[in-house]
Formats: sequence, structure tokens, C-alpha cells
Amino acid sequence: MISLFSLILVFFAFAEAEDHESRVTVYANRGDNITLPCHLESMTPIFGSRIRWSKVEDDSSEADVLIDLGIHSKTYGDFLDRVYLLKADDSDASLVITDLDVKDYGTYKCEIENGLHDKVIEVDLKLQGVVFPYSPRLGRYNLNFSDAQAVCLEQDAVLASFEQLYEAWKGGLDWCNAGWLSDGTVQYPITKPREPCGGSKLISGLISYGRQHKSNSRYDVFCFTAGLTGRFYYLIQPQKLTYDEAVEACKKNGAEIAKVGHMFAAWKVLGYDRCDAGWLADGSVRYPISRPRKNCSPTEAAVRFVGFPDKKQKLYGVYCYKPQQ
Ligand SMILES: *[C@@H]1O[C@H](CO)[C@@H](O)[C@H](O)[C@H]1NC(C)=O
Ligand SMILES: *[C@@H]1O[C@H](CO)[C@@H](O)[C@H](O)[C@H]1NC(C)=O
Repeated sequence: MISLFSLILVFFAFAEAEDHESRVTVYANRGDNITLPCHLESMTPIFGSRIRWSKVEDDSSEADVLIDLGIHSKTYGDFLDRVYLLKADDSDASLVITDLDVKDYGTYKCEIENGLHDKVIEVDLKLQGVVFPYSPRLGRYNLNFSDAQAVCLEQDAVLASFEQLYEAWKGGLDWCNAGWLSDGTVQYPITKPREPCGGSKLISGLISYGRQHKSNSRYDVFCFTAGLTGRFYYLIQPQKLTYDEAVEACKKNGAEIAKVGHMFAAWKVLGYDRCDAGWLADGSVRYPISRPRKNCSPTEAAVRFVGFPDKKQKLYGVYCYKPQQ
């Protein structure tokens, strides 16, 4: 059902791919198979052309995704054997990406070269998802850039881009600790200006420390994760659990202990709501509230953070995640 829904969204995106013919936005969900459109006008055959699809990286360099020379087609890197040309008709160089993942988010470039009708089309691939701030058990401001990349991956997420954080800020994200973004800058989003967050200027917006030294500087991080392909749930148990018992309990249930990214995705995309504090894989305890109410999260819909308690404490439940079979 989710797939059908996103298909409709994708077609919607095609229909809206209006004013510049050379720039298109496609919206999709994780796990989808999607098509990035690229056509020559008026059914000009692309036969004999060189077609190159690449992904524009954060530093503006281009990484090859697929190169097609008519007979030979080669795929690269993360896209190896996961992409192909749709070739719906003679003028079609659209790219199909299967099993979409969070790291596929970004800008793609389609270049058709045949000497006569060279053409470049840029396609922005956007994923439905959520940005969340993360700081590790060690506490605030402990991550260099490569640590930041690693902790996002551990939470089933990737480093958020500037654009994703900006969208999250427009959606109301307010966070007073600075975090790494994928472009190597360090920023934080403020929607409720206040003295301790941004000084006396009381600005609402993304407050930037600019580009920071990737190995010497330590901050928190903003991660991005997209909708779930598996099932996230609170495991009903007769009693509260230690961390180790929590890990075991999910395993016995044919699942794994959920990651922080799973909880944020379930909360944001599915409106998951549960007022029970539960262990997550990183050793933190949290609970997702989408209907604010007394004693849970009275003023806002949020993933509430209880902390990183002693793992031997038998005070919490557990959230599990069952990947799609
Ligand atoms: C996506 O495509 C792959 C390979 O073509 C196929 O095995 C898979 O079932 C498709 N997934 C969806 C969600 O349509
Ligand atoms: C980042 O910090 C970690 C320890 O937190 C360290 O092991 C790693 O070498 C550092 N990375 C770089 C590129 O300096």
C-alpha cells in the first residue's frame, strides 16, 4: 500500500515537473523502486548516444551511477546491479533505482550525448523521512565528522544534508546543540529564539558555525532516516527488562532491538504513539508520542529521550524492529 501511495506521488512529481524542463523533483519512500525521468524531446531516438547518469556529491563532484553506450551498460559503486535504464521508448533514458535507501537521497544528473541533441537533466530525489539530533552515551559534543557518519549509520540513518535540516526547521524543529551535516558544516535549528541558543540576537533560523575541522572538532550530529520497510513495535512483556534482556526478548520474537532511527521514522511517518519508555539498540531509553497528553509529552509531539541509563536497571520495556522478509 505504501508502494502504491508513493507511486502516485512519483507520478504527481512528474506532472509537476514543469517550468524548467531540465530540473525535476521526484519524491519517494525507502524500499521503493523509482524512476528518475530523462527524455529527449519529440521522440528523437537516443540510439547511438552515450548516456551517463551520475550523482552530485556534497562537494559538487559527480560520482558515476550508470554509463550506457548503447550495447554496453555499466553500473557503479552503491548502485552496482541496483539501477537500469527504463528504455520505455526510443527517446527514453530514464533511470530505475531499485530498493531505494536513505543514502540515495540527492541530486542526479542525466547526460545524453550524441553530437546533435546533447542534453543534461537534473533530477532531485527526495525521500519522505525525518531529521533527528543525536548525541552519544558519552554526552554532548563528542563526535568528529567520521564518528558522526558512523553513529548515524548505527541508528539506521545517514548524516542529514543542509536542505533536510532546513526542511525540518520549517517543520518546527528546534534544537539548541550544534551538529554536523553531510556537507561538513555544523549548524543548529532554532524556531523558538531564546537567550541561551544563539545569544542575544534571538534569531529564528539555522544557526551555522560554518565548515569545521573534520577530525579535531567535536559536536553532535543531525541524522536523516526515511520510512520503514519493516515493522516497528513495542514488545508487550510481563515485566520490565535490563538492556540484555531487552535484546534477547526481541530476538525471541523473531526481531531485533529497534534503533533510534526506526523509532523516529515510525513516529514521523506512521504517527506511532506509545507512552512506555523502552530500550533501543544504542542503550538509550525513549518513547514516541504523536498525541501530546498529560504525563507523556504534554506540550508537543516528540520522541522523548529518557537517557542512557545503567544497562542493568530493570525499569524499562523494549521496542523491537522486524525487517521485511
Ligand atoms: C523492485 O524491483 C526488483 C527487481 O526488479 C523486484 O525484485 C522487486 O520486487 C521490486 N520491488 C518493488 C517494491 O516493487
Ligand atoms: C575521530 O574520533 C575518533 C574517536 O572518537 C577517532 O578514533 C578517529 O580517529 C577520529 N577521526 C579522525 C578522522 O580524526
